[in-house]
Amino acid sequence: MHLSTANEKMIEELLGKMTMKEKIGQLYQVGPSPVGGFNISAEDARQMLESGKINEAEYTAIIENSLLDGREDIIRDGLIGSFIGINDRRKANRLQKIAVEESRLKIPLIFSMDVVHGHKTIFPIPLGESCSFDRELFYQTARAAAKEAAEDNINWTFAPMIDVSRDARWGRVAEGAGEDTYLTSVFAEAKVKGFQGDDLSAPDSIAACAKHFAAYGACEGGRDYNTTDMSLNRLDEVYLPPFAAAAAADCATFMAAFNDLNGLPCTMNPFLLKTVLRKQWGFNGAVISDAHGIEECIAHGTASDPADAAAKALKAGVDMDMGTEFYTNHLEELLGSGKIEIDDIDTAVRNILRLKAALGLFERPYAEEPEKSCALSAEHMALAKKAAVKSAVLLKNTGVLPLDKKEKIAVVGFFADSAFDMLGTAGQISGSENDVITLVSELKNRKSDFTYSPCIDTSYKLNSDELNKTVSGHDTVIACIGERLCESGEANSRSDISPTGDQNKMIEQLHKAGKKVITLLFTGRPMAISETAENSDALLAVWHPGTQAGPAVCDLLFGDETPNGKLTMTFPQNSGSMPVYYNHVPTGRPADETNWTSKYKDCPYTPLFPFGFGLSYTKFGYSDFKCEFKDSHLLCSVMIKNAGDFAGEETVQLYTHRLDAETTRPVKELKAFKKVHLLPGEEKTVEFSVPQERFAYYDFGGNIINNKSRYEVFIAPDSASGEPIYITF
Ligand code: BGC
Repeated sequence: MHLSTANEKMIEELLGKMTMKEKIGQLYQVGPSPVGGFNISAEDARQMLESGKINEAEYTAIIENSLLDGREDIIRDGLIGSFIGINDRRKANRLQKIAVEESRLKIPLIFSMDVVHGHKTIFPIPLGESCSFDRELFYQTARAAAKEAAEDNINWTFAPMIDVSRDARWGRVAEGAGEDTYLTSVFAEAKVKGFQGDDLSAPDSIAACAKHFAAYGACEGGRDYNTTDMSLNRLDEVYLPPFAAAAAADCATFMAAFNDLNGLPCTMNPFLLKTVLRKQWGFNGAVISDAHGIEECIAHGTASDPADAAAKALKAGVDMDMGTEFYTNHLEELLGSGKIEIDDIDTAVRNILRLKAALGLFERPYAEEPEKSCALSAEHMALAKKAAVKSAVLLKNTGVLPLDKKEKIAVVGFFADSAFDMLGTAGQISGSENDVITLVSELKNRKSDFTYSPCIDTSYKLNSDELNKTVSGHDTVIACIGERLCESGEANSRSDISPTGDQNKMIEQLHKAGKKVITLLFTGRPMAISETAENSDALLAVWHPGTQAGPAVCDLLFGDETPNGKLTMTFPQNSGSMPVYYNHVPTGRPADETNWTSKYKDCPYTPLFPFGFGLSYTKFGYSDFKCEFKDSHLLCSVMIKNAGDFAGEETVQLYTHRLDAETTRPVKELKAFKKVHLLPGEEKTVEFSVPQERFAYYDFGGNIINNKSRYEVFIAPDSASGEPIYITF
């Protein structure tokens, strides 16, 4: 964060005027509410109850813990620094007015929310979007989300989530960019720049928050909130680089993760929050806890009581307390007893005030009513459609896709018309299902010749008679399966990630009936779908695609667009074979068909679909692969030819494997990728230049090694194919 000298001076003067209570107030963020919602007023809760959005028990919980009602006085006293989840410009402006006009020091509040994959216009879930391998798209969707959110006076988003995740049982894989460190780093940088724009103080910029720092994606067994334990080498090589990339992109804030890492909860880990983040990476923004993260140090068993938790979190470098009142209630007494120092408090307050100043909140605390709102604008809708198209990954196609526009089709599976599920895990926070165009509504818009019946209900029970009736007289059936919005995302880890209930049964029946089965997979995670794939003629993963689900899927089905996405997470053969990821290190007994090698005996040792894999309606040929090392760079080139009948975009991937090493090195590591758009028959040379620093790694003692070695270099359409060139550099 860069502040003018005048602003730095203003903050120091302000600090000098603040009472201890006012200082501590700046470190408190109100919310989120204990029922999983956000700050809901009693009036809103009553309306939600009446409209059936919440039940009696939830209503009572909100009323009892209502975070908004009665807060006016506390704002006036300067005891609140921030709110999360006030998704309403007028409400935010009303609270802001109290802070900047009626409080003693007139310090603005900062309003935050999880704007993860869109605000009103909902883009595909991040895992889906990452499959586009498209930096510019990552940037554009974040920019659009920031513009829409800023109109609602949201100043700060808790995104991007840049936790490398290699276990699809973890529900939160939906929110990140998958299993690869390099791609996640590219994603991190683009998202931070997209949210923050060129100038953080501009009215359409919002502060980004790199989360969850760190290694939250490595939770044991893929179970949310679970412990993580790993070597520092793995931490440095796999989990930290995306966060370093976010810091280098000047990400304004970081969030401490819930998990403990090697025995110490991240919320009270000075090594992460001070040594790595501030000293090594030069970060000068603000750090917030995750929701109730400070309180959870007690459950972790590393803080004895609320005061101890508050002291340890503050000392470790957590500036703002999300949701508990531990700082509010204990910092003063802790100061008195000498457990913390005034410098600890001042540093945290300074970080929060600097964030507010960097956002321009002292000069522009309110969001103006826009002359013309950009929310759900035609431009954003077009971007949402483009993003959903680019996210889709074609996993199988025996030639049934694309469909002839005149073809009569039957559509089955409730996902074909389930607007809410299209929003995806974080899309539901501020997006509305009323703005979603489902596949069924788009087919109607296009006046396609189709018959639709869900045939399977939302508890995944199949009505076989209905299925037979719906598909009778049709050769081609679009079967929409997957998992609901609430089956992935936070707290939605699953031990079995195969399609729930009768979904496979439905596909099998269609296959046995001799139908051409085109399966659309609406999902928040990779699923165990070997049986599904077997019984489908075409299989297209469309994830939870967002507001423009229907138009995007129709364009893909009917060939107005060709799928170009490539998987950013491996699809396993079955749930029990996880974690499975392409960039594992070799064992002493690498898996093969023989006995006594490292594999499971009851399933193939190769994944169902590897990282980087995705088909297209066209075919790309790779030739003239060349490689040399010059001027501290690995230089490679390859000729890509579009050898099919459709225009298409190929994601060309460069992987390496270091052969001489002090410590085990991944069998393949993505070092670079490029996208190339080719018309039928067209060919282009794609060139790469990878700096030598990208090949550094750690020895057992944690020393950086970047000496000469022999490498295998691959340029390939996915992580499981291609012949290597051997080169020493
Ligand atoms: C999640 C964070 C999120 C926060 C606020 C927590 O439960 O872990 O990712 O930003 O809630 O919604």
